[in-house]
Amino acid sequence: MRKILVTGALGQIGSELTLELRKIYGTDNVIASSRRKKEEQKEVIESGPFEIVEVTNAKQMAEVVQKHKVNTIIHLAALLSAVGEQKPQQAWDINMNGLYNVLEVAREENCSVFTPSSIAAFGPSTPKDKTPQDTIQRPGTMYGVTKVAGEVLCDYYFKKFGVDTRGVRFPGLISYATLPGGGTTDYAVHIYYDAIKQGKYTSFIDKGTYMDMMYMPDALNSIVTLMEANPDKLIHRNAFNISAMSFEPEDIAAEIKKHIPEFEMDYDVDPVRQSIAESWPNSLDDSAAREEWGWDPKYDLASMTTDMLEKLKVKLNK
Ligand code: SER
Repeated sequence: MRKILVTGALGQIGSELTLELRKIYGTDNVIASSRRKKEEQKEVIESGPFEIVEVTNAKQMAEVVQKHKVNTIIHLAALLSAVGEQKPQQAWDINMNGLYNVLEVAREENCSVFTPSSIAAFGPSTPKDKTPQDTIQRPGTMYGVTKVAGEVLCDYYFKKFGVDTRGVRFPGLISYATLPGGGTTDYAVHIYYDAIKQGKYTSFIDKGTYMDMMYMPDALNSIVTLMEANPDKLIHRNAFNISAMSFEPEDIAAEIKKHIPEFEMDYDVDPVRQSIAESWPNSLDDSAAREEWGWDPKYDLASMTTDMLEKLKVKLNK
């Protein structure tokens, strides 16, 4: 029986993942944690066990793991790419020391660990198209540095101590439930909100800039599927390339226009996030994930757009 601790449970992924895991594994078996309570995430906090955990506080984390007899940690707490460039020291502290504390408690308490890496683990010298699973990783952001270091550290804990570590390199994640917290791919979420609220959107990412993306239901499914995958089949562990679609701002705008014909987009490019986006792949080769644990995303740009607009209209009362 799994007893799962989710760190960053009130964030973009965690808020939806926690509710999904509670459906699959039972409410009492999924402990949500965050460094502070957030009013808007009442459902996650009140629908099952919730603990305050500051991931940089090893003692606090160990106490929660012991108290709930946790055997699986899904470690999501991290600063994203754009915020990480504003606060690189804090990004290192939270992303690296947080992961180190998770791996140490996992080693001591015999837990398995899932933690996401990112397309940000690649950099300007990485092959851009159909980026291979195993390739050059020299990222230019602090976020990317922590993601590469995290992948290597997770591999180390598996080889050295037998900790069952697994991870995926997430692309930009698009969802209607919770906003992302300061990433480069966030434009692909904001565009849907502004399309519904104002009928127009000003993109901070320039036209012609391709990045990998994924709709949240596929992302949640990837976590559960990889976590439950037969370990004998896993050649790679930390971390698998996965993607569902690759597009540029014009593509997503054209798709929205099919539903909202008067929708318009213009550009006010943010040089920091633009240069981060340009340093990342255009599209990932995710064949290793498909072969080793059956990765198979369901949503493409068209089906995601239909669902996003439908759900957001209800959420925004439009
Ligand atoms: N969505 C993330 C970001 O933009 C990528 O992992 O930072």
